[in-house]
Amino acid sequence: MSKILVTGGAGYIGSHTCIELLNAGHEVVVLDNLSNSSEESLTRVQALTAKKLDFVEGDILDQHILDHIFHSHRIEAVIHFAGLKAVGESQQEPLKYFDNNISGSISLVKAMERAQVFKLVFSSSATVYDEANVSPLNEDMPTGMPTNNYGYTKLIVEQLLQKLSIADTRWSIALLRYFNPVGAHKSGQMGEDPQGIPNNLMPYVTQVAVGRREKLSIFGNDYDTIDGTGVRDYIHVVDLANAHLCALNNRLNAQGCRAWNIGTGNGCSVLEIAKTFEKVNGIHIPFEFSPRRAGDVATSFANNARAVAELGWQPQYGLEDMLADSWNWQKNNPNGYQD
Ligand code: NAD
Ligand code: WQD
Repeated sequence: MSKILVTGGAGYIGSHTCIELLNAGHEVVVLDNLSNSSEESLTRVQALTAKKLDFVEGDILDQHILDHIFHSHRIEAVIHFAGLKAVGESQQEPLKYFDNNISGSISLVKAMERAQVFKLVFSSSATVYDEANVSPLNEDMPTGMPTNNYGYTKLIVEQLLQKLSIADTRWSIALLRYFNPVGAHKSGQMGEDPQGIPNNLMPYVTQVAVGRREKLSIFGNDYDTIDGTGVRDYIHVVDLANAHLCALNNRLNAQGCRAWNIGTGNGCSVLEIAKTFEKVNGIHIPFEFSPRRAGDVATSFANNARAVAELGWQPQYGLEDMLADSWNWQKNNPNGYQD
């Protein structure tokens, strides 16, 4: 078993991945500046696994901290979650996103090179696909120019990593293109804890359910979809976390840079989410239709055949699990990790 550096490991997907890494017998070092998370998530990771991890509070832009980590631990691979992800904010403050997500990733791979660590799993996003592609999206389809600066940073980092691995064949890099991560750990003690008003659908729905928000606004009911509302591929965060372990395994004896879609392959509409949430959890979700949100596409879902075939990964959880687990987390922790 190996020692893994997890940047952004205190966040939503990172903390769930730490659980799976520790349960699989890996040692874990987390580097997180806590800009969008709290150390409480890592306390819970350790309580749930009855295992210890090393936590370093710091920034991926800080070369000294990175060098210190690589000098003090025998790191075999890095899973790189650290980044900012608010689409709207990325339009208001592009430089913050370019710096944190692009310069931050460059800073990390420079430190990895100095330390001679060449295995990397990067959190990419389905947003890198050209909007003209028709779902199911597969990895051979062209990437495009994302409509927002957040997506742009993911595309640029993917391209930088591809070029890096061509120039230096010691690199072995997995680009995991997540679709829409939702759900929470079965314990109900860990989940997504967004600051302020949620941008994403699932935390908004659970905050309506818990009474923190009055009603859900459904952005657009005139799309060319099953019921007029937007269709996405929701993936349980524990399945997503496990995809990182599969990707790590794949990269142990591989070279180069390769992308994999991480989604279930099933499209689901916003109305289906609201209705299924009501059915599974027995809670009414009031909603209203409002205008389309700028930058949204009608439909996006994955062809996940490459991940299934090459990574040996298979999603285990269906939509009802995702909605039950999201609610279990929210109802046990109405104010997230602040409870
Ligand atoms: P998150 O905000 O919960 O986690 C990101 C973590 O990175 C946070 O703990 C934050 O404090 C930390 N961080 C941010 N900038 C940092 C820096 N400069 N140095 C050190 N730590 C830093 O987000 P998440 O949902 O867990 O997403 C993890 C990764 O997956 C991100 O890169 C995100 O862009 C990507 N991603 C997320 C989604 C999604 O819908 N959640 C979809 C596709 C891709
Ligand atoms: C899902 C559907 C909305 C909120 C975004 C980023 C992407 C990735 C994941 C992360 C859409 C609708 C939403 C609401 C609604 N990023 N919706 N009311 O837009 O597919 O992807 O998150 O790091 O890059 O763009 O996810 O959860 O925001 O929306 O009707 O209050 O729900 O229009 O159809 P999206 P989402």
